[in-house]
Amino acid sequence: MAAAGSAVGLGNVWGFPTQAASNGGAVFLFVYLAMVFVLALPMLISELTIGRYGQGNPVRALNKIVSNRSAAVIMGVMALTAAALILSFYSIIAGWLMGFFASPALDMVGLTGASTWLESFGLGRNLFLTLLFMLLTMHVVRKGVTDGIERWSSRLMPVLIVLFILLIIYIFTQEGALEGLKLYLVPDFSYFNADLVVNAMGQAFFSLSLGVAVMMVYGSYLPKDANIPKTATQVALIDTAIAFGAGLLILPAMFVARNNGVEIYSDAGTLLNSDTLVFTVLPAMFDTMGAVGPLISMVFFALMIIAALTSSISLLEVPVSCAIEELKISRNKAVLTIGIAVSLIAILIIFNFGALFGLVVNVATVYMQPLLGLLWAIVTGWLWSRATVLEEIRNGFDDVEQTLFWRIWPNYLRFVCPVLMGLVFAATI
Ligand code: PHE
Repeated sequence: MAAAGSAVGLGNVWGFPTQAASNGGAVFLFVYLAMVFVLALPMLISELTIGRYGQGNPVRALNKIVSNRSAAVIMGVMALTAAALILSFYSIIAGWLMGFFASPALDMVGLTGASTWLESFGLGRNLFLTLLFMLLTMHVVRKGVTDGIERWSSRLMPVLIVLFILLIIYIFTQEGALEGLKLYLVPDFSYFNADLVVNAMGQAFFSLSLGVAVMMVYGSYLPKDANIPKTATQVALIDTAIAFGAGLLILPAMFVARNNGVEIYSDAGTLLNSDTLVFTVLPAMFDTMGAVGPLISMVFFALMIIAALTSSISLLEVPVSCAIEELKISRNKAVLTIGIAVSLIAILIIFNFGALFGLVVNVATVYMQPLLGLLWAIVTGWLWSRATVLEEIRNGFDDVEQTLFWRIWPNYLRFVCPVLMGLVFAATI
């Protein structure tokens, strides 16, 4: 459940619908599904297996396999750098969630100026909300209460799913929704191109929290009687179902909003402000709901903040626990140093939003996450003795050796994953 909590987050409700809306809807959906199950899931199994075998922070876990300490340190630092970079842009978007959560309440008590400020894109508001979200994440990780939040969030996950279903039913009662559904489910192959494929790959790795050693650490928390391939499949299914549901809500809601006079597309037919699309479309939907709109909006954004928090704490906890163990510093000091460093990167992005935001999202999710995921696949497939891998997976999966999974997976990691990923990158070049 903790791994699912890390996986489910902004990637599902912001990343996936935005990408689908910008990349032709259904074609993106199908390529994304293929990426999750053909490429990301086998790699998730590999990352969790390394973690459970290593029983410690990523540097220690990798060191147990590659036995060369410098190599393990370099690999670990690369993963942690990617995690920090992701957290920096993640806290900006999660900050927006907090703004949209608070704004209806401020409206109700008559503070309309403050409410409008929280909802409008601007430097001051972005800085304030981002730092607020970073402080919240740092507070949770500093107190070491991430378990509590995760337990809480797994109880709330069903509420989020029910709310999604109700909102999806509601949106289909509105004029224009079917046009969005058509875009989402009926493929128009003229949209298909190499960039779409590479974006779908990045989105799959981002959504499953891959590459950045988060899943390695969560693997180390897995009990020895847990069946890793099964757990990984469950995480991938939950995560994908929620992303699919978010698309089923947001793409129709885009067209409903357009029908109600909200500008979504430019005259040339491209999406306006894709980064903030979800934050235009959702409030426009809540506005159509009359008196209950503000209340439902607050419940929705509150649940989303918690979903984002279980992802952000995983992103901060991993470098923090690594620093505590490897550099022998206190938890307070580690949270403070890493938290401030990440906040500084976020501030830099906010001041140069147009130039940096999309760039950092792209570098981290489209390049670093898949390439690091591939590195773990190579570590598992090539550098680790097959017998030890088998022994590790056998815990919780006694007869794995007789399964089709075991006959395919090790060589799949060795040959198929690198070739597939190579092809995807080569196509964009
Ligand atoms: N998977 C998370 C989401 O979809 C983001 C994330 C990426 C979390 C990498 C941890 C590590 O929101």
